[in-house]
Amino acid sequence: MVCLCHGISERKVRRAIDAGAMSLAEVGDRCGAGTICHGCHPTIEELLDVAVSVRPRTAFA
Ligand code: FES
Repeated sequence: MVCLCHGISERKVRRAIDAGAMSLAEVGDRCGAGTICHGCHPTIEELLDVAVSVRPRTAFA
């Protein structure tokens, strides 16, 4: 579980990132994670860092 406030699993956060979320706000918009106490932000940021570092450059265009 990544976000205890919303009961959001790592899998759901990864799905939001795979669908194009590139920031904490975008992850929150897509699945709700990180929008209440913000305690899960460090974990979401780690998942974003890993995903963004392996994304093809064209994904940023
Ligand atoms: S644990 Fe994610 S917003 Fe509180």
